[in-house]
Amino acid sequence: MKTQDELVEVISNETIRNRVKELGDIITKDHAGNEIVVVGILKGAFIFMADLVRNINLNLELDFIRLKSYGAKTESSGTITLTKDVELDLTDKHIIVVEDIVDTGYTLQYLIEILKLHKAASIKICCLINKKERRRVEIDVNYVGFDISEGFLVGYGLDFNERYRHLNGIFHLNPGYAPISYTPSDR
Ligand code: IMP
Ligand code: MG
Repeated sequence: MKTQDELVEVISNETIRNRVKELGDIITKDHAGNEIVVVGILKGAFIFMADLVRNINLNLELDFIRLKSYGAKTESSGTITLTKDVELDLTDKHIIVVEDIVDTGYTLQYLIEILKLHKAASIKICCLINKKERRRVEIDVNYVGFDISEGFLVGYGLDFNERYRHLNGIFHLNPGYAPISYTPSDR
C-alpha cells in the first residue's frame, strides 16, 4: 500500500479475533432466552459488527444507524447529526449498540437519546475500543474489547480521512507526530 503515513500495529488480527469471540460468548450468556437487535454505528463499526454477530449464538436481527460529527479538529465537538436512522421497529426489543471507539462520549450520549425515542426494552453498549482519557460525558459501556489510552488508531473499520478501514489489525497512525489530532469524518 502506497502511503506516507507511518502505521505501527498495536493489536493484531489474531488478538482481535480472540477478544471478539469472548465478547460474543459473554453477550450470548447475558441475553440467553432473549431476542436481540444489534445496531451498528456506520461506518466505523462495520467490520467489528460483522465479526461480533458471527460469535453471538442467539436469535438476532441487525440494523445500522449513521451519525455525523462536526467541529473541532482534535475531538468530537458535541454537535452531532443523525444521517440515517434505524429501520427496524425497536419497540420492546433488547438492543446492543456496536461502536468502534468511545472517546469523548458525545456520539453515544446522542445516540442513546435517539434510541430511547424508539422505546426499546433495554439498551446495552458494546465498543471495540474504549478511550477513557478524553471522556467528557459519562457513558455506561457494557462490553469493551480493549482499553487504549493514547494515539490515533486506524484499521479494522477505523479510518483517518476515510483511509485504512480495510486493514486486518489495529494500527497507531504516525506515532511520532501529534498523535490525537484528526478531522472527524462519518462516525
Ligand atoms: P466521541 O466518543 O463522540 O468522541 O466519538 C467517537 C468517535 O470518534 C468514534 O466513533 C470514531 O469514529 C472517532 N474516533 C475517536 N478516536 C478515534 C481513533 O483513534 N481513530 C479513528 N476514529 C476515532
Ligand atoms: Mg464511529
